[in-house]
Amino acid sequence: MSVRVAILLSGGGSNMVRLVESMTGDHPARPVLVMSNDPAAGGLARATALGVDTAAVDHRLFAGDRAAFEDVLHARLMQAEPDLICLAGFMRILTGDFTARWAGRMLNIHPSLLPKYRGLHTHARALEAGDTEAGCTVHEVTADLDDGPIRGQARVPVMPDDCAESLAARVLKAEHRLYPAVVRRFAGGDRTPLMLG
Ligand code: GRF
Repeated sequence: MSVRVAILLSGGGSNMVRLVESMTGDHPARPVLVMSNDPAAGGLARATALGVDTAAVDHRLFAGDRAAFEDVLHARLMQAEPDLICLAGFMRILTGDFTARWAGRMLNIHPSLLPKYRGLHTHARALEAGDTEAGCTVHEVTADLDDGPIRGQARVPVMPDDCAESLAARVLKAEHRLYPAVVRRFAGGDRTPLMLG
């Protein structure tokens, strides 16, 4: 019986594509839904092209009522009966009530070496600090933003002539390696953090 994975995104979905493409053969998990808070998210069309069911719950229809938005999101998720949720460029902050419903069953990928640089603009902040290395982190999602147990990290060098965009592109490539490997390990029941160079 495969582990049923739902992926939540807000944008183009390059991480979603790698996750979906990885869940084949002897992989213990299979994608069952790709959902977005933005009906126009490019990742939804990419998921359809990959043969994965999609859904959208437009957060703008809830006029800031985060709980009401999450109730609809949760109800739609439950229709797919996921065992694991992967946030992949999902740009809405989730309340403690929602994260509690999925405790231990929800992962996120964040473009920094947590606990450094929680929140936004991680690459600009790393450059500003003069860091010589950067990277990405897969962590379990808790009520605290970008703060749950770390399940994997990948490190990349910061080059002297890097700008935020060039560093982001290098980190994104590392995300595409890290997230599928962590999801395969996590879906297999192994909680050992995966550290990639
Ligand atoms: C990635 O940089 C991820 O770290 C951040 O949002 C971006 C998602 O990109 N959370 P994509 O939509 O997967 O291409």
